[in-house]
Amino acid sequence: MGEDIRIPVGGERPYEVVVGDDVLGELPGLVKGAARVAVLHPAPVRGWADRTRDVLTAAGVEVTMVEVPDAEAGKTVEVAQRCWEELGAANFTRSDAVVGVGGGAATDLAGFVAACWLRGVAWVPVSTSVNGMVDAAVGGKTGVNTAAGKNLVGAFYPPAGVLCPVPALATLPQAQLRAGMAEVVKGGFIADPVILDLIEADPAAALDPAGPVLRELIVRKISIKARVVGEDLREAGLREILNYGHTLGHAIERLEAYRWSHGHAISVGLVYAARLGVLTGRLTEADEQRHRDILRSLDLPVAYRADAWEQLRAVMSVDKKARGRALRFVLLDGVGRPVTVPIDDEALLAQAYAAVTP
Ligand SMILES: NC(=O)c1ccc[n+]([C@@H]2O[C@H](COP(=O)([O-])OP(=O)(O)OC[C@H]3O[C@@H](n4cnc5c(N)ncnc54)[C@H](O)[C@@H]3O)[C@@H](O)[C@H]2O)c1
Repeated sequence: MGEDIRIPVGGERPYEVVVGDDVLGELPGLVKGAARVAVLHPAPVRGWADRTRDVLTAAGVEVTMVEVPDAEAGKTVEVAQRCWEELGAANFTRSDAVVGVGGGAATDLAGFVAACWLRGVAWVPVSTSVNGMVDAAVGGKTGVNTAAGKNLVGAFYPPAGVLCPVPALATLPQAQLRAGMAEVVKGGFIADPVILDLIEADPAAALDPAGPVLRELIVRKISIKARVVGEDLREAGLREILNYGHTLGHAIERLEAYRWSHGHAISVGLVYAARLGVLTGRLTEADEQRHRDILRSLDLPVAYRADAWEQLRAVMSVDKKARGRALRFVLLDGVGRPVTVPIDDEALLAQAYAAVTP
């Protein structure tokens, strides 16, 4: 196994993402000065939460374990409220800290709990899923879901550091692992074609949590996100390129009431964006086929219901990236060169959709 990899994230409050086998040892340094740490985690990663507790306890920190409901059930104001009650009961002060152990849902919740307690205490995500490592834990977006929608309540609140223990992926369900790869593939197309080469060379190795390829893919994708959010924490511009594949992807997620995983929806969205790239003269047919082949090799879907275009189009109109009547898409001017393009040609949008139907 290799050495830990450290990826700097710039911005107003710089920090590092550490990817490796034995990264928990970093924790006491990251929460330095905290007498108390709350470890928020869902049941499936209890083992990693216990290890986290042990490292902190050995460093002389008083640990409060808070088990939260799993996945999206944990990302609610009610669960956050319960966490704040626990912090109050343990007399948490401004110099104490919160650690979130788990996938993106647990770390989004932990960051939000930390952002609000005493108007902000230090926090560290210990990310245990591919999606969490390559996306959710990096970039400082924290939040919960409400009746009005997903992720509408939250804060930009960078962590003190991000820890990605690669061995945790050994217990991540295969379906979750594959779904997380959609974001990795996106990174390959917008910024780092080596990601694409690695997956094409050996898709099975790309999905093996014990091997070096998945680790390298994760590091490469984190590096892209770190670069982008370091320059644009608050989504003023550059961060928009991370939305490649997301305009249609988000619409599918909404239409499916989130029964489709984000990764699956984005996978279809990537092929749609590639088709739009071809239809607007930016990509070749071969580039589009490359999207399909890579996603298929990871068992990710490349098509959605043929009868859904009208509904998807309606949902896309209220997408947060829409400005006026035209939809704004992130497209590629060739692989690795993302551009933002307003498109108001309805026939073209519908024509592109035909390419992602069975
Ligand atoms: N903050 C951001 O910028 C950002 C970006 C992308 C996604 N997100 C959020 O991240 C969430 C999705 O993250 P996710 O895909 O990790 O989903 P998740 O957190 O729901 O995790 C998926 C499932 O895998 C389990 N799991 C995680 N790691 C495990 C492990 N090592 N072993 C066994 N089980 C494990 C979880 O407990 C859960 O049951 C969504 O809520 C999304 O909104 C946030």
